Amino acid sequence: MQVIESRKAQFIKIAGKDLIIFSSNDYLGLSHHPEVLKAATEAAEAFGCGTGGAPNTSGTTSLHIKLAGEIAEFKHRQKAVIFPSGYAANVALHHCLGGPNTVFFSDEKNHPSAVDGIKISGTPVKTFVHLDFNHLEKLIKDDKHSKKIVTICSVFTLDGDICPLDELTRLKEKYNFILILDEAHATGCIGDTGRGLEQMFSLEGVADFIMGTFSKALGSQGGFLTYSNEVEKIVSEPLRPYLYSTSISPMAVAASLKALLILKEKPELVEQMRTNIKKIYDYLDEKGFTLNNRGTHIVNVYFDSQKMTLQVVDYLRQNGFFVIPISIYNRWGLRLTTMAVHTEKQINDFCECLMEARKVLTTNRSF
Ligand SMILES: Cc1ncc(COP(=O)(O)O)c(C=O)c1O
Repeated sequence: MQVIESRKAQFIKIAGKDLIIFSSNDYLGLSHHPEVLKAATEAAEAFGCGTGGAPNTSGTTSLHIKLAGEIAEFKHRQKAVIFPSGYAANVALHHCLGGPNTVFFSDEKNHPSAVDGIKISGTPVKTFVHLDFNHLEKLIKDDKHSKKIVTICSVFTLDGDICPLDELTRLKEKYNFILILDEAHATGCIGDTGRGLEQMFSLEGVADFIMGTFSKALGSQGGFLTYSNEVEKIVSEPLRPYLYSTSISPMAVAASLKALLILKEKPELVEQMRTNIKKIYDYLDEKGFTLNNRGTHIVNVYFDSQKMTLQVVDYLRQNGFFVIPISIYNRWGLRLTTMAVHTEKQINDFCECLMEARKVLTTNRSF
C-alpha cells in the first residue's frame, strides 16, 4: 500500500518525494477546486465534521437534502438517496431489490459492491460473459423467475469498457427486465456534459435505477441512488446501509454539492479531461504500446510480465510520476487516467518518460 503524505490535485508526496499522479479517479480535479474547498470548510463550521446521527434521526442536514435534489436532477430522476459510499449504495440497492421469485443477471466484471449486495440478498444470480448480450439473452430466455434484474456498469472500473446501452435497451424492450446502471466511473466522465451513459446514447430514462458515487469525478465522498417516481414502488425493502449508518459528513456533502454545481456550470471540464486522456492514448498508440479499447477515459497499457510492469512503475516514480500497476484478467499493466487539471507539459513529460522507461528496460533486458 502506498501512503500519500500530501496531495494537491495531481501533485502528491510519497516517502518525501514529490510526484505527479496519472492514476487518480479524481478525474476532473475537483477535489481541490478552491470553491469546493471553501464549501467544505464552511460546512464544517456550520454543521461540524460529523452529523452525529443516521439519516432518520439527527443526520439529515439541509445540505444532504440539496445534494439529493441536485443529483436527482442531474440524472433526470425525481428521487435520490445519499449513502456514505458508492459501495453502500450498491449493497443497499441489490439487497433491497432481491427476494422471492427474483433473479439477478450480472456482468462478470461488475464491481464487488454489486456482487456483495446480491450475495447478501440471498437471491439467485446468473453471471453473463462480459458485455456478451447474446449470452445474457440466452440466460434470460431460459429463466423462469418472474422478476428479472440486469445489473451492469456504465463504465467498467479496471479496463474502462463502456456498456453499449443501445443493445441493452433492445433486450430490455423485448424481455422487460429491471435495469440497474452503476455510474461510478460514468458520472462526470461520459455524455456531452458528464451526465452518464443515458446521455451518451441519447437514451434518457432507460435505466430503472442509477447508482453512482461522489468519490470519483466529483472529487469527494459518498454514494447515491437515483430513480423515478414510477419505479419507487419496486423499492419495497428498507435500504439498510442507508438507515443504519451515520449519514455522510457535512463537509463531504458540501464538497460534492459544490463540485456538482461546478460541473453543471462548466461541462467543458469533461471535455478537458477527455482531451488530456486522448493525448496519452494517441501518443502510446503511435509508439506501439499494447492498449485497451479506444474511446474511454481509462487507458490501460499492458506489459509482458508483472516484473516489467513493476519496473516501469519504479522508473516512472524515480522520474517524478506515480501510476498504479494492475493485474487484470491475467494481464499486467498500468491503469492510466488524467485529470482535467493536468497541463500539456505534464502530459508530454509523462508520455516521454513512459517511452524512455520502455527503451531503457528493454535495452537492459532486465525483464
Ligand atoms: C464500478 C464501481 N462501483 C462502485 C464503487 C464504489 O464506490 P465508492 O468508492 O464510493 O464506495 C466503485 C469504486 O471503486 C466502482 O468502481
